[in-house]
Amino acid sequence: VLVRPLEDADRDWVREHARRRWGGERVVSRGRVREVAGLAGFAAIEDGRPVGLLTYAIEDGDCEVVTLDSEPEGRGAGSAVVAALAAEARRRRWRRVWLVTTNDNLRALRFYQRRGFRLAALYAGALEESRRLKPSIPLVGMHGIPLRDELELELDPPP
Ligand SMILES: CC(C)(COP(=O)(O)OP(=O)(O)OC[C@H]1O[C@@H](n2cnc3c(N)ncnc32)[C@H](O)[C@@H]1OP(=O)(O)O)[C@@H](O)C(=O)NCCC(=O)NCCS
Repeated sequence: VLVRPLEDADRDWVREHARRRWGGERVVSRGRVREVAGLAGFAAIEDGRPVGLLTYAIEDGDCEVVTLDSEPEGRGAGSAVVAALAAEARRRRWRRVWLVTTNDNLRALRFYQRRGFRLAALYAGALEESRRLKPSIPLVGMHGIPLRDELELELDPPP
């Protein structure tokens, strides 16, 4: 896979991708709504087609990973875009790289912890507030686990 930063020309497929993979053009984390297609990010490309997408937002010198997903999974696209982000974080001297995932996402918890992230906080019950902002968030998540909490992870050591 080849990884490159997102460009303006990517906005249309990013928007479509967000609708298909994230249930809408907006994602909610820590009680905030973000428009995926407006964010910076990295795309993993294979045979001219996007196979992985990471989007992020910079605020006060900190970088929040807003979305990350790959299709097909398990072929290295997720690792490739995370590596590109970590390199960018060192170059741009961001203070902190952090993200939020949910209690049901065991694969993501494994993935992030094996790639240099550590748990930083638990927001128990946070999905209730997220559901007020985005009612399409289901009650039951992956593996049949009730979707309830946000877990914050951060890159360790910081960039
Ligand atoms: C979490 C996610 C982004 C990981 O991306 P990915 O592209 O599957 O990641 P990779 O392929 O780089 O690595 C995943 C696993 O596949 C393995 N793998 C990597 N390349 C592989 C290959 N060529 N063949 C087989 N397995 C491979 C890796 O060893 C890794 O396993 P590990 O965690 O035991 O080390 C992806 O599973 C996904 O899109 N999940 C759904 C959306 C999501 O939950 N996103 C995170 C929300 S915060």
